[in-house]
Amino acid sequence: MADLAIIGGTGLTSLDGLEITRREVIRTPFGEPSGPLTHGVLNGTEVTFLARHGYGHTIPPHRINYRANIWALHHAGIKRVIAVAAVGGIDDALPPGALAIPDQIIDYTWGRAGTYFEDDLSEVTHIDFSYPYCDELRAMLIDQCKVAGLSVCRTGTYGVTQGPRLETAAEIARMGRDGCTMVGMTGMPEAVLARELDLNYACCAVSANWAAGKGDGSIISMVEIEENLRAGMDSVRKVLQQLLSSL
Ligand code: HPA
Repeated sequence: MADLAIIGGTGLTSLDGLEITRREVIRTPFGEPSGPLTHGVLNGTEVTFLARHGYGHTIPPHRINYRANIWALHHAGIKRVIAVAAVGGIDDALPPGALAIPDQIIDYTWGRAGTYFEDDLSEVTHIDFSYPYCDELRAMLIDQCKVAGLSVCRTGTYGVTQGPRLETAAEIARMGRDGCTMVGMTGMPEAVLARELDLNYACCAVSANWAAGKGDGSIISMVEIEENLRAGMDSVRKVLQQLLSSL
């Protein structure tokens, strides 16, 4: 049984080369996950895949049932999660196509069901979230980028916005002042829910575009996002294949 799962984001709704052994529909106390878990073998290693936005890419970031997704992975025996995410680059080092392994998060989302610890508690429960990502998994991703010959930003702060709209240039300027180096819509509450269930969790971020007002400041074209993501996700696939063959 796989202990590693990959959550695919925009641009990665399936894993090329995955020899699928089983699809598993899991019902959870929190409702429906984004889809069945896809179990299989890639480069000799068992792995489980879940498309965060659904296999047809139909679920917007604020409607994803993050609790059901993470609960389903935990229920299936997963211990480690690599979350692939498309982001906008705020830092100069994150032009379209660049890869980054963030080490911090700032959460700007609102109204999302973001904890398992709210009902039927015998006592109020807090968890440590000082360092939201698993350093061991992060190091593995960084190493495998190197082996695959891909450059990668080894740190970064992922600012998570509510979406589905993109941000204004002023919002991005503020996020830059806050210390965010990238912006995306799905990093939270996914990361904290993984922590609540004791899953090791790291993010492999791909810059799909310059964030609003960055780069040459022109408006963001969805067609360009798609094109950049096609190239960026090819890099991610290489890293994931490399990582799985190293296990
Ligand atoms: N903002 C928020 N989320 C994103 C972006 C962006 O510019 N690009 C890809 N996901």
